[in-house]
Amino acid sequence: MNNDRNVEFFRGIADLINSVADLDNLLNMLIVTATRVTGARASSLLLVDKKTDNLYFHIAIGDKTEKIKQFALKKGEGIAGWVAKHNKPLLVKDVNSDPRWSPKVSASVGFETKSIACAPLRDAGEVIGVLEIIDRDDGETLREEDMERLQAFSDLAAAALVKARSFNSVEKRKKELQSELAEKHRIIGDSPAIKKAIEDCRKVAGSKATTLITGDSGTGKELFARLIHELSPRKDNSLIVVNCGALPETLLERELFGHEKGAFTDADSQKIGLFEAADGGTIFLDEIGETTQAMQVKLLRVLQEEVFFRIGGQSSIKVDVRVIAATNKNLEEMVASHEFREDLYYRLNVIRLKLPSLKERKSDIPILTERFIRRMAGDLNRSIKGVTPDAMNALKSYSWPGNIRQLENAVERAVIMGDSEWIGLDDLPPEITEVATQEIQVGLTLKEAQDNFKKNFIVQSLEFQGGNKTRTAKMLDIQRTYLSRLIKELEIE
Ligand SMILES: Nc1ncnc2c1ncn2[C@@H]1O[C@H](COP(=O)(O)OP(=O)(O)OP(=O)(O)O)[C@@H](O)[C@H]1O
Ligand SMILES: [Mg+2]
Repeated sequence: MNNDRNVEFFRGIADLINSVADLDNLLNMLIVTATRVTGARASSLLLVDKKTDNLYFHIAIGDKTEKIKQFALKKGEGIAGWVAKHNKPLLVKDVNSDPRWSPKVSASVGFETKSIACAPLRDAGEVIGVLEIIDRDDGETLREEDMERLQAFSDLAAAALVKARSFNSVEKRKKELQSELAEKHRIIGDSPAIKKAIEDCRKVAGSKATTLITGDSGTGKELFARLIHELSPRKDNSLIVVNCGALPETLLERELFGHEKGAFTDADSQKIGLFEAADGGTIFLDEIGETTQAMQVKLLRVLQEEVFFRIGGQSSIKVDVRVIAATNKNLEEMVASHEFREDLYYRLNVIRLKLPSLKERKSDIPILTERFIRRMAGDLNRSIKGVTPDAMNALKSYSWPGNIRQLENAVERAVIMGDSEWIGLDDLPPEITEVATQEIQVGLTLKEAQDNFKKNFIVQSLEFQGGNKTRTAKMLDIQRTYLSRLIKELEIE
């Protein structure tokens, strides 16, 4: 009999260890296992609420929260309360003759009780809960040996509980950080141009083909590289982002390929490079147009052969890495002027993703602005209702050479500096609010100059209305058919 109990005891411990990763599961487990390992009729678990310093029952069944509040006990109240208050185990062989016995607690457990044993659960000596058992399952009164077993189990249970709680809070924080990051990397936009770019990412994500993302500064190249990785079968492995323009050649080489111990003066240990770190995943070579000719040769070799050597290494290392590169430079021009190797260019340019500038997706400006306001107002704890109509007009008419990043910065500045609940013209940087002066070209006929103006004016108006001809015609106060005729005559695409 006693041996069986020992076997049960160790099984119980194994169960606890296995449940540590899931707090709720562990709490339920504790109650079931305490009953089993002590051979008691029933058991319950009470936890100390740090805020109120009260004890509450952890109920293994039904909807917890409501019931828990109902069964809150003050420290010192009832037998479990006494144990929590005095931080000592307690065995009461006959509850009816013990003044500490509280019928209120008995009712909550729903058992007619003869004997009770309670042991404190401690974290660094402090009581964090109480484990209690009621009677033996053979109907006998609990004895000293049951008490000892309960205390031994409680010590282990407390350790498991502390672990589970810290695990739980780390997991929670991890989830929060992940969702913050996901929000930060979320691609916002509803325009046909951005939808097409997202659709293209979906298509290329499935293959391993090297992808070159081009687009002006601040158009979201890094964001789209992340999207391709996230949509790809490699998403559970690493995405390694390397800014090729940020490091001088020798350092970049060490970062990318790693080195053996003693490969150069300060190489006092072996180091794994980023290509190795990205094995099974994706490497994003940002600012690829900034690399030196020598580095281009080295990159070409990795792309061609999928193998490389650590600096100072004798044996080649094979990796399975998907390469995405990005640049805001015109690589074709750089190839023509021999600044960029043609062979590397073709290796990179297997799939090309060209991101639209903000000018080409002006209909996204309101939604981008709104999201940036919400994000930053949240970070800064400010309440902002939105953008005034004239400020929105200015945002929509501006040409945004710095694209989304510039818009993001302008909104950030407005949220920080503005004092009203609405972002107005005054809160925007001057370059955005200044009316662009029309470039005048002398030497044209009046008709040509007028046509130029008309064309420009209609293009911008169409952009402003997200390409919608009906709304544009209404804004210009002309017939929709006349607008269509102008579009044709002026050769507007
Ligand atoms: N579609 C989008 N939705 C939301 N935010 C975006 C979008 N595109 C870009 N951003 C934001 O704009 C900023 C610039 O994006 P990113 O760094 O990806 O641009 P880039 O093309 O790599 O620019 P650069 O060539 O200057 O390095 C980032 O803060 C990014 O979060
Ligand atoms: Mg970038």
